[in-house]
Amino acid sequence: MSFRTLPKVELHTHLEGCAPPEFIKGLAAEKKIDISKIFTADGGYAFRDFDHFLKVYEAACTTLQTPEDFRRLTLAVLEETAFHGVVYMETFVSPDFCGGGDLAAWKDYLAAMEDAAAEGQEKLGITLKGIVTGIRHFGPDACKPAARCAAETFGDFIVGYGMAGGEMVGRPGDYRYSFDMAREAGMPLTCHAGEWGGAAMVAETLRDLRVGRIGHGIGAITDPALIEEIAEKEIVLEVCPGSNVVLKAVKGWDNHPIAKLRDAGVKITVSTDDPPFFHTTMTDEYEMLHRTFGWDEDDFKALNKTAIAAAFCDDDTKTRIAKRLE
Ligand code: HPA
Ligand code: ZN
Repeated sequence: MSFRTLPKVELHTHLEGCAPPEFIKGLAAEKKIDISKIFTADGGYAFRDFDHFLKVYEAACTTLQTPEDFRRLTLAVLEETAFHGVVYMETFVSPDFCGGGDLAAWKDYLAAMEDAAAEGQEKLGITLKGIVTGIRHFGPDACKPAARCAAETFGDFIVGYGMAGGEMVGRPGDYRYSFDMAREAGMPLTCHAGEWGGAAMVAETLRDLRVGRIGHGIGAITDPALIEEIAEKEIVLEVCPGSNVVLKAVKGWDNHPIAKLRDAGVKITVSTDDPPFFHTTMTDEYEMLHRTFGWDEDDFKALNKTAIAAAFCDDDTKTRIAKRLE
């Protein structure tokens, strides 16, 4: 059975991390940038572990230098994502990684993405929204301009502020300034936590950054009181099981805590994170959840309902998408 055509909602992707290797190689050739060492002999992205993954990711991003690169990337990503049944997608996008981090120019990049989103909506029937994202391992000060950019572009297309990157740099509270700035602009918030940092990182993120969604959050599994709190407060976890398996945040699919968290009453959603890096697609994620935990169409429909309810977009969009999930 394939779940490919089942309508899906995906809340946790990184735009740059969705770039197919062929796309990045094409840009590298155009701009005469030598990044051949980030690819394996058979053409995929080559990395050893999470820290190395972040370096390879950053190297790939050096090829994304103009708004037009972003427009083309966004369209390529939408085409691939729509093929896997995704009807609504949110994607993290980071001023620090691309276009040399020039914040004044960054609005042109986001406008190019928004143009591509409109084209994707019309041609592919997929809705895309962006989440401007600070990069944690660049430190608290580097996240402030990203938050300012998020607050200034908040609207129909940029719908939230988030933080990604290496989690083991400082504590969540060090990043309060950025999250406060975005919150004061009225933005919904999400933060990667508990991919590597364990239950304490998830608890501190909730306490100090007051986010409504957590990226990954799987580290919560060791703390029953925290699981109860997450369930009670209806915090939504953006779980990316295939990413966790490939990066070895968990020992394997059988050991992934997603089913236990769901069964404990936590609001769970499923996403791919960076599909070409982790050799996954939404179809593959559903297939593996089916094989590992016996989840079926009704389980997936429930996940997608949770996801659209937790989406950062406006209510009209939510209502329109929810109808497609019935
Ligand atoms: N974790 C943290 N930061 C990231 C990831 C991830 O899986 N992908 C891209 N940035
Ligand atoms: Zn992520």
